[in-house]
Amino acid sequence: MASNITWHDQAVSQEERWKLGGHRGAVVWFTGLSGAGKSSVANAVEKMLNTQHNIRTYLLDGDNIRHGLCQDLGFSAEDRAENIRRVGQVSKLMADSGVVTLAALISPYRRDRDSVRESVNSVAPFLEIYVQASLETCESRDPKGLYKMARQGRIKGFTGIDDPYEEPASPELILDSNGKGIEELAKEACALILERIKL
Ligand code: PPS
Repeated sequence: MASNITWHDQAVSQEERWKLGGHRGAVVWFTGLSGAGKSSVANAVEKMLNTQHNIRTYLLDGDNIRHGLCQDLGFSAEDRAENIRRVGQVSKLMADSGVVTLAALISPYRRDRDSVRESVNSVAPFLEIYVQASLETCESRDPKGLYKMARQGRIKGFTGIDDPYEEPASPELILDSNGKGIEELAKEACALILERIKL
């Protein structure tokens, strides 16, 4: 952080903003391997919260964010850390504003996810949801053909193949996407989120 900068208190409080919206803001962080179903579940959760429960939501999807805010970043450990830090900070601001912010990123390193948790927890609930699917399942789905390319050596440093994925130690929720359908998993997540955003 640069020197000679001062924190300014703001006229409208978080309590006032959240009260106006009728619920707390929160960050719901979906982590898991490529192809585990993070984006699909997060989309289904957003749709349910938004259309059935009148919750103000926004989805930050890793692939999409890399088209703009994080377009300068690659997939080295340092770049992934910066990617998670930026999305974490944006999520934190949005949660403070009263939005239930859903982030769907591989976020393979525990340290990076824990940093976001610590930072967000000072202003809003942070829920880590592990969308769990075995590497075999993800590889057999291979919706973008990336696993095939990684196996052929045409992509280097692909998570799960030649780059690590560290499973969450104590996530708020584990969604087993090996067998269950997206709607069923989304309902599980919604139940937890709705409980945690009550004023
Ligand atoms: S990270 O690790 O959290 O910074 O990654 P994220 O921002 O979520 O972006 C993951 C998507 O990028 C594509 N992709 C790769 N993933 C993992 N490793 C490598 N090397 C890689 N190269 C490209 C891939 O489509 C990921 O999308 P999802 O939705 O997870 O399949």
